[in-house]
Amino acid sequence: MKPDVLAIGPVFTLLPEVVGEMNRHFAVHHLNEYPVSLPADLAGRVRGLATEANRGAKRDLIAMLPRLEVISLFGVGLDQVDLVAARERGVPVTNTPGVVGREVADLAIGMMLASARQIVFADRFVREGAWEKGPLPLGRSVHGKAMGIVGLGEIGRAIADRATAFGMRVLYHGPRRKADAPYEYAADLVAMARKSDFLMVACKGGPETRHLVSAAVIAALGPGGTLINVARGSVVDEAALIAALKSGALGFAALDVFENSPNINPEFLALPNVILQPHQGSAARETREAMGMQVVENLRAHFEGRPLPSSVK
Ligand code: 8YV
Repeated sequence: MKPDVLAIGPVFTLLPEVVGEMNRHFAVHHLNEYPVSLPADLAGRVRGLATEANRGAKRDLIAMLPRLEVISLFGVGLDQVDLVAARERGVPVTNTPGVVGREVADLAIGMMLASARQIVFADRFVREGAWEKGPLPLGRSVHGKAMGIVGLGEIGRAIADRATAFGMRVLYHGPRRKADAPYEYAADLVAMARKSDFLMVACKGGPETRHLVSAAVIAALGPGGTLINVARGSVVDEAALIAALKSGALGFAALDVFENSPNINPEFLALPNVILQPHQGSAARETREAMGMQVVENLRAHFEGRPLPSSVK
């Protein structure tokens, strides 16, 4: 008999190959949204949980599933998973490293170029007929500029590689210096922001990094600076960010993540100096398929008694 797996999030219906593999190996019960409650007969049968990183698995869900044996996360960010509650129950957690970093880094660089070279604004400029009346105001180069990266993990490193290829100077901030990283380490984030033209937020979310990009960091980045966030909305003090974008204390922002998505603060919509993306960092077909296959592979490994390919420490 196939093990019962609860799959949470729309992504588990969008990728035909992943859906096929899931159904081949498991009895899949799909929910688009994180459940507030579950029918008792279903809750009592579920042995595996596949869940999107932005939905996760909190203590309440883990408690609802008495036979739960494994949590397979679609994504890398662990901020929505209660690792303590999982550990208490002896339930291993896996995620999907390896492919997400480069995809998110591509979007981060795209957002940087879109900011500096005004790609979004220029598209509107053409569509609205402004080009016929005069040239586009000049953008800015990224070559020779300083990029400060908050969090030099898999995503941060992929961003750093790309920034180096663009002729940028790379600095990074994190809890500790990385011996193998050929970039300038900044123990102090405000000091790094002061030196940066572009500040890339690529660290993990959760309570440890909440509002790490504070009003002081945003002020240090300054009127000539651009803040790019591809991590989690919680890392940035959003009220301070909006105030700084409004007053011009910060030059520009490009955001893929927000404190409250998808219902983002409507003040963002009226600001001309921000580019808004719908949390699409990993949303390229090839990468999402690879992530889905990792989710399946981790679940299969568990139920077949093999070592888990990407278990979380
Ligand atoms: C996804 C993510 O957008 O990997 C993560 O942590 O946030 C993203 O890759 C998310 O898993 C939703 O599918």
